[in-house]
Amino acid sequence: MKTIHVLLMSGLFAVSAVTSVHAAGDIAKGESTFTAKGCIGCHGPAGDSQAPEMFPKLKGRDEAYILTQLTDFKSGKRVGTTMNPMASTLTEEDINNIAAYISSNK
Ligand code: HEC
Repeated sequence: MKTIHVLLMSGLFAVSAVTSVHAAGDIAKGESTFTAKGCIGCHGPAGDSQAPEMFPKLKGRDEAYILTQLTDFKSGKRVGTTMNPMASTLTEEDINNIAAYISSNK
């Protein structure tokens, strides 16, 4: 019985480890998407906006904040004439990666 219990527990640990790897975005991919999609043009290198009164600084924001804002811009829950069309071109994976990238630049 004890062996079965141990096996079951290690199985669960393996599953949760895999899940958390997938949930976390890829920082390097996030960086290339941030450049390729032109985000950098308004929000500055690494999201460190040079004109924060017009284009909010993203640098310093945490992963969950960026993830939520981009998801809400994409769905239209958060309205922004510039950001709604920008976010609509991002996949969920892009959003995950960008959130990981931005939050990695402290
Ligand atoms: C043409 C300029 C422009 C481009 C390009 C642009 N943004 Fe934005 N972004 C804005 C503006 C302006 C706001 C503020 C919108 C508002 O509050 O309605 C904003 C807001 C945001 C916010 C929310 C910031 C906050 O403080 O709540 C995030 C996150 C964001 N942009 C990410 C991105 C990403 C990722 C890209 C590339 C896919 C991108 N932006 C491309 C102009 C731009």
